[in-house]
Amino acid sequence: MKEQLERIRQEALEMLDAATDAQALENLRVKYLGKKGELTAVLKLMGKLSAEERPIMGQLANTVRADIEQKLAEAKAQVEAKALEARLLAETEDVTIPGVPVVMGHQHPMNMVLQEIKDIFVGMGYQVVDGPEVELASYNFTRLNIEEGHPSRDRSDTFYFDDKDEVLLRTQTSPMQIRYMETHTPPLCMLAPGRVFRKDEADATHSPMFHQIEGLVVAEDITMGDLKGALITIMQKIYGHDAQVRFRPHHFPFTEPSCEMDMQCHKCHGEGEVDGQICSTCHGEGWIELLGAGMVHPEVLRNCGIDPEKYSGFAFGIGLERTAMGRLKINDLRLIFDNDVRFLNQF
Ligand code: PHE
Repeated sequence: MKEQLERIRQEALEMLDAATDAQALENLRVKYLGKKGELTAVLKLMGKLSAEERPIMGQLANTVRADIEQKLAEAKAQVEAKALEARLLAETEDVTIPGVPVVMGHQHPMNMVLQEIKDIFVGMGYQVVDGPEVELASYNFTRLNIEEGHPSRDRSDTFYFDDKDEVLLRTQTSPMQIRYMETHTPPLCMLAPGRVFRKDEADATHSPMFHQIEGLVVAEDITMGDLKGALITIMQKIYGHDAQVRFRPHHFPFTEPSCEMDMQCHKCHGEGEVDGQICSTCHGEGWIELLGAGMVHPEVLRNCGIDPEKYSGFAFGIGLERTAMGRLKINDLRLIFDNDVRFLNQF
């Protein structure tokens, strides 16, 4: 038995010396010290020894176990230290490598101009509100005095969701006039910017989705002079005091009288042509239409429970993209939606 124990010790110590990873060490622990291991197997034979031999062999067995355990602990520590060293080497970081610069973005140019416009109107006492893009035909058309059969209600112009033509993508922000007058009483002063949708082909000044800024003022004694004053003020604040604008008579079912306001084309400066070619930004007009406006139609006031004998008001709908084009000297509206960073970085 003595030889057996000595052999186990020698073999175990040699094997532990040669082991290089944690799994090999664990296998050796099981092989020698485990419940079914070699040392345990020898100890089980103890009972067969004589009374004198038993304590001697017992002691020897204990030192063998202690030696193996100690060697195992040392080998484990060594393997772990090696593993740590290898990891540290592999994970070395070169702190002298230059950092990756963080690219700072900024507001989209159209939002910059929107913010500018909102600030100016807020300064004049307007309340800025938001409204639904999916709208009812009754708000988008009917209560705005746009009768059945009006061309703008046609399926070739408007995106409808249902067969009865009752739910649609709003074609203008004007339904916000109704929504606001339904919930507020005069005097009132509202600004409602947002997306609108029309079945338009995209070109330099058209897009099937664009933004409008609706304005509405209703109080006693509001006149067309107030409307012109408000619009000229805002144009001068955006474009400077030499801003060239013109008003043209127009027709909208929900305002009477109605007008449109144009801004002189920033590309051809009203000439209509550049280097002998028709100006592509204004299609040769020399002017770019920026907004529709007018005095709120008495019928529309009545539709919202407001007495047209007592109150009057004006409304306008500004085309945001076109206003931004003039403000930032952008020649093609599609650039605003392309989101090419080479374009966006210029602002
Ligand atoms: N909603 C009209 C349009 O989209 C513009 C407008 C707004 C006209 C308010 C008059 C008053 O063309």
